[in-house]
Formats: sequence, structure tokens, C-alpha cells
Amino acid sequence: MELREAILQRRSIRGFLKKGVSRDTLEEVLKLAQRAVSSKNSQPWLVHVVTGDLLQKLGADNVARLRRGEPTVTSEVPLSGVYRQRQVNVGKQLFGVMDIQREDKEKRDAWTERGYRFFDAPAVILVCMEKSLSDAYRFDLGCFVQNLCVAAMEYGLGTCVEYQAVYYENGLREYLALPEEQIPVVGIAIGYPDPTFPANAVITEREALENFVCWYGDEKK
Ligand SMILES: Cc1cc2nc3c(=O)[nH]c(=O)nc-3n(C[C@H](O)[C@H](O)[C@H](O)COP(=O)(O)O)c2cc1C
Repeated sequence: MELREAILQRRSIRGFLKKGVSRDTLEEVLKLAQRAVSSKNSQPWLVHVVTGDLLQKLGADNVARLRRGEPTVTSEVPLSGVYRQRQVNVGKQLFGVMDIQREDKEKRDAWTERGYRFFDAPAVILVCMEKSLSDAYRFDLGCFVQNLCVAAMEYGLGTCVEYQAVYYENGLREYLALPEEQIPVVGIAIGYPDPTFPANAVITEREALENFVCWYGDEKK
């Protein structure tokens, strides 16, 4: 796949075919992802790949925690201004194609639970970092993750980066052998995209360059 095409076509995939991804393929994707830039070539990413029955159990455990209102690990500050507007817009796009009305609590809850079940993907890649590293190294994990999402497309795979995958850290620690010194930073649901799943068709908006780029110097167009 051409690079430009891959970057333009990448989008979050939230519905997957019931088809496993071979370990060989996941290894190929991880090998490409690890070519990402990292500060001082520190390569701070530590990865846990979960599939099969264990993934089902983890998803069910997440949903159970959500239903009983267990607090999640983050205390994210709610977005405001243009950032909030972008969040609202993507929500509208997704709920629109999924036919979820704002007031339909049942459908909204089901959608949220789907995220906590890793969108029923055949695999989830949890990206962790050592607690001893400063927060600045989260940036490097981001580079790894974006590389991974684009690399996955070469193998016909779709991905959804998700915080929902790591909100219940206690559950992850109960089911997986996560070393105490590692913090789960983000998860990536990965699998073969279901072409009939409406949310997979959503192309999210992007700003015009003039809204986020400042130019300096005398370079002319
Ligand atoms: C750090 C991070 C966390 C995210 N967490 C979630 C999540 O918990 N649930 C979800 O449905 N999407 C999640 N996303 C996906 C974003 O909503 C998505 O990337 C964004 O709306 C842009 O859409 P696109 O990926 O289709 O281009 C996350 C993305 C990132 C980078």
C-alpha cells in the first residue's frame, strides 16, 4: 500500500470480522511499529498482546466494573472550546451512522460497553511504559502507536487506539502478568475490519492548515 494512501485511509475501526490475526502477522506489525522515532532511541514502549479467551474475559471484566460504577484510573480534565467541539462532532458522526439518539441511554451504554470490550476485536495490544520514566516519554509511545496503526493497514488490518482499554488498570493487573513497575498507557484494538459495520465508514474532520499552522520567514507559495 502506498504510504500517502495508507495515511489518508487510516481511520479508527470499531467493528471487526470474527477472524483471528496470526501471531506472525502481529509480529510483522510490531516490528514495523518499533521503527518509530523515540527520544534518545529510548524505545520506551513495552507491549502486552492479548487474544482469545483471555481477551473475552478481560472485556467482560471491564464491562462488569463499568456497570458497577467502579472509578477509572484517569481523572481527565473535560475538554472545552474548540477541542470540545471536535469531540462533539466525532460523537455526532459516530452516533449518526450507528443510529444512536442522544436520549437513548440503552444504546449509548451499549456503545460505551463495546469500547470496554475492545470493540470485540480478536486482539488487543496494550502499550505500557515504566513508571520510572518521566511523562515526556508518553510522546514516544504515541509515535509507536501511530506507526503501528498505519503499518497494520499493509496487512489488511484495522485498529482503534483506545484509552477505554486501560481505564480499569486493576482488571488488567488481575488477568495479565503486568510487572508492577509498568503503567498501561493505551490499548489498540486490532483485527480485520468488518466492511458492513457503519462506524468503520466514518471519516473524521480535520482543520484547514491556516487554523493551526503559523509560517515564518520569506518563503513564497
Ligand atoms: C490516545 C487516544 C485514545 C483514544 N481513546 C479512544 C477510546 O477510548 N474510545 C474510542 O472509541 N476511540 C478512542 N480513540 C480514537 C479517537 O476517537 C480517534 O482517533 C479520533 O476520533 C479521530 O478519528 P480517526 O482515528 O478515525 O481518524 C482514541 C485515540 C487516541 C489517540
